[in-house]
Amino acid sequence: MKDIVCSGIRPTGNLHLGNYFGALSNFVKMQDVADCYFFIADYHSLTTHPTPDDLYRNARQILVQYLACGLDPERATIYLQSDLPETVELYLFLNMNAYLGELERCTSFKDKVRQQPQNVNAGLLTYPTLMAADILIHRATKVPVGKDQEQHLEMTRTFAERFNRMYHTDLFTLPQAYSMGGNLVKIPALNGSGKMGKSEGEQSTIFLTDSPEVVRKKVMKAKTDSGPTEPNQKKPEEIENLFTLLRAMGDNEGAEHFDELYNTCQIRYGDMKKHLAEDVVKFLEPIQQRIAELESDEKRLAAILDHGKEKARESAQKTIAEVRHVIGYRN
Ligand code: TYM
Repeated sequence: MKDIVCSGIRPTGNLHLGNYFGALSNFVKMQDVADCYFFIADYHSLTTHPTPDDLYRNARQILVQYLACGLDPERATIYLQSDLPETVELYLFLNMNAYLGELERCTSFKDKVRQQPQNVNAGLLTYPTLMAADILIHRATKVPVGKDQEQHLEMTRTFAERFNRMYHTDLFTLPQAYSMGGNLVKIPALNGSGKMGKSEGEQSTIFLTDSPEVVRKKVMKAKTDSGPTEPNQKKPEEIENLFTLLRAMGDNEGAEHFDELYNTCQIRYGDMKKHLAEDVVKFLEPIQQRIAELESDEKRLAAILDHGKEKARESAQKTIAEVRHVIGYRN
């Protein structure tokens, strides 16, 4: 049977290389081999209280960037999370059997409590149940995500299994976090530690919309050490990260070349960074061209979301009708 694939990205600004290689590149490949639902997670982004204008603008921006990266509304269902009220209903049902202890133990929740103690809202606490609702509403089998989402997928399986057990049903299939390449991906930030993304700061993150000058500046400032002193020395994390980025860009030849130079203590990090920066500039160029072409086509963007909403609701309505019946709402 064909896989059902579902995933989303929060609209918090422009997409970055972490989003691309962790999630979006898989979305693009999977749309040819599975029944795909890709959405813009504009409910999840409310946990940080965006202004109405930002909420609208960011969601639209993500849609443009999805399309510019190769998502095709004819081959995949592309929609806004907020266009599917069925997700919210399932979120409510799942919350009845999600326990405070397990939600509080979730790593992403603990991180947020540390990062924003002034805004620990219930939406943050129940972030994993909303995410589970997004996935289970289509009964997805595979969920393309980066490594940081692995625990959320584990929790989704827990909630699905619990529901099935409680109501003596096999309504929900248990979804798996997935990457076409095998292992889930973590794209590192340029500051030497952590994953690329807004929480590590804009200077450590390369956005799909960064101009060549900005890319070069950010990459040249990436953290490095004072260089190897012995042949075949183990690489520190910040150096390993530069190699990870080269390989992510598909430049295995470049990675091997600089690996050889590293192992023979001849590496010049400036040369390696210049090489990496040019790889990134070349990679971003066609994406940025497509963004520029798509950006002003309001009519087409609206039509894509309308079409996506219709297809996504068809699938969601089927699931929610069964869920309501199983729970006991039978009028
Ligand atoms: P978000 O918006 O933080 O990130 C979107 C996707 O990008 C991946 N990602 C990365 N992958 C590798 N390296 C990185 N540095 C990196 N940074 C981000 C994330 O793993 C993710 O796949 N909770 C989700 C959005 C969501 C969702 C869902 C995903 C809501 N409902 C249902 C899947 C299924 C999130 O906040 O991702």
